[in-house]
Amino acid sequence: MKNLTIHQADPVQGEISVPGDKSISHRSAIFAGLANGTSHIEGFLASDDCLCTARAMEGIGATVTPAEGEDPQRPTKLTITGVGMNLQAPQSEIDCGNSGTAMRLLAGVLAAQPFESTLVGDASLSGRPMGRIITPIQLMGAEAEGVGERQTAPLTIRGNEVHSVHYTLPMASAQVKSCVLLAGMFCEGRTSIHQPAETRDHTERMFVHFGVPVETDGKGLVAIEGPVKLDARDITVPGDISSAAFWLVAAATRPGAKLIVRGVGLNPTRTGILDVLKRMGADIKITVTSGPDDGEPMGDIEVTGKKLQGVVMEGDEIANIIDEIPVLAVAGALSNGVTEIRDAAELRVKETDRISAVVKNLKAMGADVTERDSGMVIRGGALLHGAELECFHDHRIAMAFAVAGMTAKGETVIKDVACIDTSYPGFDSVLGNALAGEPLG
Ligand code: S3P
Repeated sequence: MKNLTIHQADPVQGEISVPGDKSISHRSAIFAGLANGTSHIEGFLASDDCLCTARAMEGIGATVTPAEGEDPQRPTKLTITGVGMNLQAPQSEIDCGNSGTAMRLLAGVLAAQPFESTLVGDASLSGRPMGRIITPIQLMGAEAEGVGERQTAPLTIRGNEVHSVHYTLPMASAQVKSCVLLAGMFCEGRTSIHQPAETRDHTERMFVHFGVPVETDGKGLVAIEGPVKLDARDITVPGDISSAAFWLVAAATRPGAKLIVRGVGLNPTRTGILDVLKRMGADIKITVTSGPDDGEPMGDIEVTGKKLQGVVMEGDEIANIIDEIPVLAVAGALSNGVTEIRDAAELRVKETDRISAVVKNLKAMGADVTERDSGMVIRGGALLHGAELECFHDHRIAMAFAVAGMTAKGETVIKDVACIDTSYPGFDSVLGNALAGEPLG
């Protein structure tokens, strides 16, 4: 079992870049794998999650090759030759590991195929609700089945005669939206969704990048006209703002810190963390260096540390910061005043129940925090102390509490952190620099 042992460290300094964006990497493998021709992907996140998606695409006929000189175990440059929308039946179960994105997006693609496929995952993924994607793909005419009332994995899916639908999402979920649109690629006519709040729009941008027009009305509607053909395209994946988040919070909350994170994705459906930190009083400068053209905007984020002030996070903003809430809760505990997180019940069905995990760990470190059904209230300012913590096999809980540990008095041990590799291989070496008081990168 791999643990992280953390002690109080100096405020962070230096310039770093972070590995590729997880959401965009999944989509790059799926779109390139379906396209006609060969695409080159740079900056692919070679994490356990995204490698599951790349292997799944190989399982249905795509050719995925690491570029020359790349580590074959964790390649960040890939050459993918797609199947031109003619998928092969997989010879075995498709293993999605820990990844909800892999399972929900691949289910959309597989829902429209005339063969049967089975999607499996690890213990955490096998406990997450899949009814949210089974309902729309059944409406489209696919046979799809999970286990029990919550329709958990393993999922069995068979397409037959799928048809386009208009589907109103009951929750703000980019994964559910993407599942329906990906199935819609294979249907005759217009497939549309309505989402109750804006969610990350990487799928929409990827459609446009691969030559497929997307209709939006700015009020929640997204539609495509099928059947579509995808033309191979090269992709540069920007750094993941959700991984940068840990270092941004480590720097923003500590007077004396000075950090630049280079080459980060700045898609406005993902930059809510910067808005929240600025509302807390953070000193953040953003320089856009490239894009969007028909892809994703990218740039540098410069942070100068300060004592911050608590804020409320709620409503439509939650979908934009959904993956950053654990580390923003840590920011709240390190700030003056009260931080409140509302309308975030979705956190209960992530890799673990992130509301309960964050509350438990903050309490163990001496923070004053109250759990609510769909969020929490943190009365900041208490000096945190080291503690032995579980991360509940959740990468974002492990990394958020590594940041908390860097400010706490005494030693913090985070147990069983192998899950960090699902989104941020190399996190521990940056953390090692921080703990040694050296520039992060
Ligand atoms: C993701 C969407 C989000 C997010 C997840 C990645 C995606 O999930 O939490 O880490 O790539 O579409 P939901 O859309 O289900 O909220």
